Amino acid sequence: MTLIEFVRGCTFDDFLLTPQCGILPRRDPQVVDLSARFSRHLTLRRPIVSANMDTVTRAAMAIVLAEEGGLGIVDRGFRSGDIGPQVAEIAIVKRTQHGVIADPHAIEDTAHVEDARRAMERTKVGTLAVVDGRRRLRGLLTERDIRFVPGDAAVAERMTPRERLVLHEGPITLADAERVMVERKVKKLPLIEPDGTLMGLVTAKDLMKQAQHPFATRHRLGRLVVGAAVGATGDYLERAIEVQRAGADVIVIDIAHGHSQVMERALAEVRKRCADVDIVAGNVATGEGARFLLERGADAIKVGIGPGGGCSTRLTTNFGIPQVEALVRCRQVVDGAVPIIADGGIRRDGALTQALLFGGDTVMLGTAFASTDEAPGEIVHKAVVVPESQKIVQVPFKAFRGMASIGAVRDRLDIEDSDPNEVEAIGAEGIEVSVPARGSARVVIHDMLKHLCSAISYGGATSLAALQLAFRADPMRYLVKLSVASRVESFQR
Ligand code: XMP
Repeated sequence: MTLIEFVRGCTFDDFLLTPQCGILPRRDPQVVDLSARFSRHLTLRRPIVSANMDTVTRAAMAIVLAEEGGLGIVDRGFRSGDIGPQVAEIAIVKRTQHGVIADPHAIEDTAHVEDARRAMERTKVGTLAVVDGRRRLRGLLTERDIRFVPGDAAVAERMTPRERLVLHEGPITLADAERVMVERKVKKLPLIEPDGTLMGLVTAKDLMKQAQHPFATRHRLGRLVVGAAVGATGDYLERAIEVQRAGADVIVIDIAHGHSQVMERALAEVRKRCADVDIVAGNVATGEGARFLLERGADAIKVGIGPGGGCSTRLTTNFGIPQVEALVRCRQVVDGAVPIIADGGIRRDGALTQALLFGGDTVMLGTAFASTDEAPGEIVHKAVVVPESQKIVQVPFKAFRGMASIGAVRDRLDIEDSDPNEVEAIGAEGIEVSVPARGSARVVIHDMLKHLCSAISYGGATSLAALQLAFRADPMRYLVKLSVASRVESFQR
């Protein structure tokens, strides 16, 4: 029987995986290689992506994901035409950590201390480069230099002048910058062109952050990597251009039915206007859908119609493909030409391993990160009855909702300006629920990675890539199809 016949109509809870002879010395995410391709030009050290949903990924979530070696995709759940808020979220992620700061905040040497204070307050940075009218470096000014100093004092008098700074001419690698800073005992290293023009800044604080997160997903200049979602109609093209300008490293064209003419047009338009950025397209759930996106130049394909926790597409339309079958169908067609993102339906960490074996190069998660500290939204306390004691306790919750839920769609429409027929015509394909608050997403990720390492050990491999290869070479060696009784034995606790 072929794999596709074997998995027809099946999803994660239909299978267990047969344990193999373990050869992994230590199940430790610090040493096991969990790297995975996210898109044509982007490889992650951890195969985990947070979903572009307005109750899941904004800057805080994207920062944690990137620091931990995965990726966050900032949702487009802002009002149509209102692109600024999404751009602001991208900018926060890009400014969180630097390696080399390519565009340090600067002030002119003719300015006064009160101007510098205002600039520090506005930009939230404690060090300004001081430059002349042609952006040639004149010195550095720190918060400490202007503490207790009258506002009308001249910046030029308070700064550390260029002659007393350690400088580097031309570009520099982070390792070399660190060496120079240790040798010369400085905390800041400005980079200049031969004619003295300011071209960058390296700070000890940023170098320390780089060391704290050894698996982080970073751009070559050291900034955290982030993705941004756009739609396929309305403001999508302008949004794609703006988020790329703000520094988004990948653009995800995300619509419920990616195998469609509207996607074809959007993909072509975004491709024309946004060079140098990987474009992910989805969602699809069939081999034909995956081929359609592959042939139209998608740099990664997002797979999943209806498995998501906030999703009601299958209830309301009866369309969809069970997620394991969808992953196998798409994998067989795409066959590694571009990576596949297994999107939705992962309700336990074991299913995460399955998603990575059946077809995903990476997984996209919404529910798993819902209601963590980094998820957007206010905490609300609700009275809950404890079954054992029948006592009522106040439990903190956050809202989680599908992006096609009536609430999310209405929030994206400018209700006052929109055509009443448009509001009337909303056919919800998502639900809204409250999820108990549950700490940092960082802890959730760490647990997932530990469980993934254990799965690699059970699977007789030493890395994620090796386990995927072994599974795909001979899936029947691994797959156990479950009876109703064995499913209860396995997953009901
Ligand atoms: P999980 O199961 O991790 O899935 O919560 C996250 C994915 O669910 C999809 N999604 C939706 N699908 N209607 C849908 O049909 C919706 O309203 C909706 N909202 C999110 C999406 O692919 C996400 O990544």
